[in-house]
Amino acid sequence: MEVKNNKSLGASEILELVFIYMAEISSLRDFDEILEILANMAKALTSADRCSIWIVSDDKKSIWTKVAQGIDKIQIPISSGIVGHAISIGQRELIDDVYKDSRFNDQIDKSTGYRTKSMMVIPMYDYDENIIGAIQVINSKTKNEKFDYRDMERLTLASTYAAETLVSAKLTKEIDDTQKEVVFTMGAIGESRSKETGNHVKRVAEYSKLLAVAYGLSESESELLKEASPMHDIGKVAIPDAVLNKPGRFTPEERKIMNKHSELGYEMTRHSERALLRAASIIAYEHHEKYDGTGYPRGLKGEEIHIYGRITAIADVFDALGSDRVYKKAWEDKRILKLFKEERGKHFDPKLVDIFFDNIDKIFEIRDNFKDTFKTEISTKDLKEKHRHIKVLGAYGTKSKGFATSSFLLNKTNVIDAGNLLDGLNEESIYLEKIWLTHSHLDHISDIAYILDNYFSLREKPLTIIGTMETIQTLKSCYLNDQVWPDFSKIKLLNSKEMVIKYEELSLGKIYSLSENESIKAFKTDHTVDSCGYIYKKQDHAILITSDTYSLQAMFEEIELDNEIKTIIVECSFPSDMEKLAKRSKHLTPKLLFEELKVLQKKNINLFINHIKPMYLEKVIAEIELYKGDWTVNILKDGEILNF
Ligand code: C2E
Ligand code: SIN
Ligand code: SIN
Ligand code: SIN
Ligand code: FE
Ligand code: FE
Repeated sequence: MEVKNNKSLGASEILELVFIYMAEISSLRDFDEILEILANMAKALTSADRCSIWIVSDDKKSIWTKVAQGIDKIQIPISSGIVGHAISIGQRELIDDVYKDSRFNDQIDKSTGYRTKSMMVIPMYDYDENIIGAIQVINSKTKNEKFDYRDMERLTLASTYAAETLVSAKLTKEIDDTQKEVVFTMGAIGESRSKETGNHVKRVAEYSKLLAVAYGLSESESELLKEASPMHDIGKVAIPDAVLNKPGRFTPEERKIMNKHSELGYEMTRHSERALLRAASIIAYEHHEKYDGTGYPRGLKGEEIHIYGRITAIADVFDALGSDRVYKKAWEDKRILKLFKEERGKHFDPKLVDIFFDNIDKIFEIRDNFKDTFKTEISTKDLKEKHRHIKVLGAYGTKSKGFATSSFLLNKTNVIDAGNLLDGLNEESIYLEKIWLTHSHLDHISDIAYILDNYFSLREKPLTIIGTMETIQTLKSCYLNDQVWPDFSKIKLLNSKEMVIKYEELSLGKIYSLSENESIKAFKTDHTVDSCGYIYKKQDHAILITSDTYSLQAMFEEIELDNEIKTIIVECSFPSDMEKLAKRSKHLTPKLLFEELKVLQKKNINLFINHIKPMYLEKVIAEIELYKGDWTVNILKDGEILNF
């Protein structure tokens, strides 16, 4: 993988990079330290109150906490609690309130007085796919106190790298002493995530060293500062993308969020005893303090600010002003130098400003030598493949209290059907660029109306509704027709000439590319209105979704043709005694479904069932048990993350 110039990394990409390097950090005695930092990052990125890393004991009878924030080391039987359960069966867990979950073991809460509420657990595997432990976060500190899909994604990445670290530690593997490179690269990551390009951190490192030597610090201390200063913005990994990459000036609220990056960086690094990380920690904490006491986060004054902080401040601002940012253009040199004169004794240490001007030629020389052409090569093995999943935003066949209707989020911008976008995504729905419709029934299209209405002013790009010709016709004439709801294809986005929605006619059988390694293809299905199912493919694994259908013939043909389809989601709406209604409304019952599925039995396919009508839920599930034969059946639930 490459960190390209001008490319904004999402939080998960940046984490991936950070963790790869973290895992390579250095010799054996530091593995615990790496795990500690990973746990801190996982906590920061998921806004959790605590993070623990659990390990399966050698005799496989118990699990214990390798890293346990806020509690002493604990050992519990492997069969105990939610973590034990997740480890035993290798399943990820995302739970809103553990006290409503019968598996929860409240012994730890009882003995510590801590009150656990929300929880996520991700099992960790070694290279042979044996489960070696789990990473767990507790108590979301967000407003609704729940973890969500993005948190799960981020924690999954953390788990991958924590697992690697554990495996390396176990193999007592020696790792190259690439520490300097690591720290340097981590800084570059913090930077490239905020769309700021190139050699920023390298220049900051060089300016810092120059100023340090001229100020009178020893050669070794100046070198330490040079190596640590690239990490000044590492805390930015925990700043939400929407703030970090906002293409304009901050509101006071956004400013407050961004200013947390200093403390976050400090939190992530401060537990280490290693000189380099100690220095990095000071720099992360103090690089936005100002000499006159008006900086953040603590408002330190004069020489209360560590010399590393005072030096990095000059290096960082000088470089930031001379560079393009998402929110501003690069300044001309004259204007930059004027600011440094004005801020002498205000923002900056006057002594250092004098040194800066005394060395201005060397400063410009460094700038010329490290122009923005920097690339980092990283080998990613097959790590990414562990991150193939979709999020089931709605799993049921009609809306009912506590039950949501069909919607499958493929990635940030693409979703199949629109039965539950509002509750499922809230404001994140503004990032959707394409809704792939299966058919025009209300439970598959309802939330198109509401996300447009609610988040109209936040949308920056048009939303494309793609479906068969008949489906699109129905939407145009019966739904977004200025009678039932506004015709958004005639309404302009704010600040853009484009309309809020566009329609696109789907070609059945055509492979649409969604990204470098993702594609989608539609196939015709059998329902009361014109309808299709979809095959979504990522890195050579495919998941097939039938949506509403009576016959499964078309699905069989697709599976026959494409042996990358290993996971299917098939509808099953009604209990078997309602077969007549099922046939008339073109839906399946457990009996019909498993009769048809006999064709597939030897193919080793993972079967998921959706679209059950909630009022018949128990009955349908009981019948599935009855008719399923050798099939292992998973009943989809709202909010579930489905790996494939
Ligand atoms: P950065 O862009 O790398 O800027 C680092 C520091 O350089 C800033 O720290 C500030 O002291 C100085 N600086 C950068 N651009 C300007 C400018 O146009 N005018 C002046 N007077 N000073 C400038 P600060 O302000 O604490 O910001 C920290 C980081 O927060 C920035 O790093 C940037 O990532 C982000 N940021 C700050 N303001 C905005 C904004 O309005 N919009 C966006 N999208 N990001 C911002
Ligand atoms: C559990 O997983 O149910 C108990 C362990 C914990 O509270 O962390
Ligand atoms: C950066 O662009 O990565 C550094 C600017 C800052 O200190 O916030
Ligand atoms: C649907 O196809 O899911 C709506 C109509 C029905 O429930 O029969
Ligand atoms: Fe900063
Ligand atoms: Fe339908």
